[in-house]
Amino acid sequence: MKIDVLTLFPEAFAPLKTSIIGRAVESGILEINLINIRDFSKDKHKKCDDYPFGGGAGMLMTVQPVFDAVKSVFKDGAKIIFPSPVGETLNVKKVETLSECDHLIFVCGHYEGIDERFFQLFDVEQISLGDYVLTGGELPTMVIIDSVARFVEGVISKESLENESFSNGLLEYPQFTRPQEFEGLKVPDVLISGNHQEVDKWRKEQSLIRTKKFRKDLLKKQ
Ligand SMILES: C[S@@+](CC[C@H](N)C(=O)[O-])C[C@H]1O[C@@H](n2cnc3c(N)ncnc32)[C@H](O)[C@@H]1O
Repeated sequence: MKIDVLTLFPEAFAPLKTSIIGRAVESGILEINLINIRDFSKDKHKKCDDYPFGGGAGMLMTVQPVFDAVKSVFKDGAKIIFPSPVGETLNVKKVETLSECDHLIFVCGHYEGIDERFFQLFDVEQISLGDYVLTGGELPTMVIIDSVARFVEGVISKESLENESFSNGLLEYPQFTRPQEFEGLKVPDVLISGNHQEVDKWRKEQSLIRTKKFRKDLLKKQ
């Protein structure tokens, strides 16, 4: 999968160089290109923001540098994503759909956002991380890339995906590792019984109990 990230702050993307995503890039499963929108500004000082017409607090990203940056990477079939409070909230269904794309282009907003003509010039999907406001689109872009990459073949094992929260509409069951006892707390006997059928049964029950406790809304969707 090819991912182009258009941003005023490419240095913010250092976390993508580590761990699972970093390895997926190194092995060539993912190609992530960081493109600095400022390089496309035709302003003599490379300015990329200006005051909003009509007044109001803060600055707005100007449309020209973003327009030229998108044009420099866009190819037929590419999907342009703008993380924004305006979009629908990200969920696992959307993540899986995005993982089937060959080419994603992320445009990271900053300041008060971006001149509305950007959305008139391109077919852009806006995706929100939730009903709150962040300072920029860099963090949400990394969250979307991270969640989507997990569904790209070869990034993590199929088994890991199958047993994860939301994969069957429920939350994952509780998990334990060594030591078998810590501060007087013991690992449930069933998990060390070696009886795989009983382990499966226990996990299904626990998954349901947890979902009822923390996310009743998920049960209504079943
Ligand atoms: C300070 S915010 C702008 C908020 C905008 N003025 C508004 O009220 O909707 C700057 C940028 O952060 C990103 N952003 C902020 N909150 C977000 C959220 N909940 N989900 C996804 N992106 C978000 C967007 O790219 C946005 O353009």
